Amino acid sequence: MKKFAIFGNPVVHSKSPQMQNAGFKHINFDGAYEKFLLEDGDKIKKEFLKNSFCGANITVPHKEFAFKNADIVKGIAQKIEAVNTYILEDEKVVAYNTDAPGFLKAIESFGKIDKVLVLGAGGTAKAIALALKEQNIDVTILNRSENRLEFFREFGIKASTFNNFKIEKFDLVVNSTSAGLKDEELPAPKETLENILKYSSFAFDCIYGKKTPFLTLAKSLENKIKDGEDMLLYQGVLAFELFTSTKADNSLVEAMREGLKEK
Ligand SMILES: NC(=O)c1ccc[n+]([C@@H]2O[C@H](COP(=O)([O-])OP(=O)(O)OC[C@H]3O[C@@H](n4cnc5c(N)ncnc54)[C@H](OP(=O)(O)O)[C@@H]3O)[C@@H](O)[C@H]2O)c1
Repeated sequence: MKKFAIFGNPVVHSKSPQMQNAGFKHINFDGAYEKFLLEDGDKIKKEFLKNSFCGANITVPHKEFAFKNADIVKGIAQKIEAVNTYILEDEKVVAYNTDAPGFLKAIESFGKIDKVLVLGAGGTAKAIALALKEQNIDVTILNRSENRLEFFREFGIKASTFNNFKIEKFDLVVNSTSAGLKDEELPAPKETLENILKYSSFAFDCIYGKKTPFLTLAKSLENKIKDGEDMLLYQGVLAFELFTSTKADNSLVEAMREGLKEK
């Protein structure tokens, strides 16, 4: 049996095992996927090899450590400098970022998008902004603090704080902050958000499983809204394809979605 895991801290609430195991069952793949609580991110490669995992996902707060520790980093992850997937290939630890393409897949249902505002400047914002830029979509970052904005500017992405932001019309506004995750906060001052959302058509929140204050406000201003469930699902489906060397069809995607919903 091939062994897989999700590394995180905390990891107890992760839904990846139930989603990936549902996928394995659906295609009769002889695999088992477990949670792995990792305290020291710098030990990620050592633990991955020591436990004979064939593949793994990596979640908060280890994505940057996983990037630094990998033998080979492929695709857009080289720019993002954070990875969420490890695969053992020819005794080398090969790393990928499936959050970025997973996000693009999740917003496909909105149709054509030309201009996006991303709220937040953390790891998820990096993945989203670079994925959008690769598709030649115009991206702007808006964050509460200045600290992390230089990363984006180096890629030619506009980035502001609340103080120096000029309101424009965006097709899509994305909340990639953790505001609303464990609290009822908005990701930016209410008046600023209202002035943005009254001109936009779509709002996406990376947070899943709840209607955040951001999505509630966006809906009240007639935006079409979507939470982060599909982003979680598709990053998992893309990792599953790497784990099993199979191409996911619709029935597999739906089996994994059902897996996500298991209690
Ligand atoms: N659906 C999915 O598959 C998926 C995947 C990945 C992440 N996520 C979600 O995405 C969110 C961000 O994750 P991350 O890993 O990118 O986090 P992170 O690296 O810690 O970045 C958090 C960002 O949020 C900002 N922020 C935090 N609290 C805020 C508040 N109260 N008001 C305004 N801004 C605030 C921070 O601003 P400063 O720079 O000023 O600190 C920072 O820019 C989390 O809610 C996570 O659950 C979902």
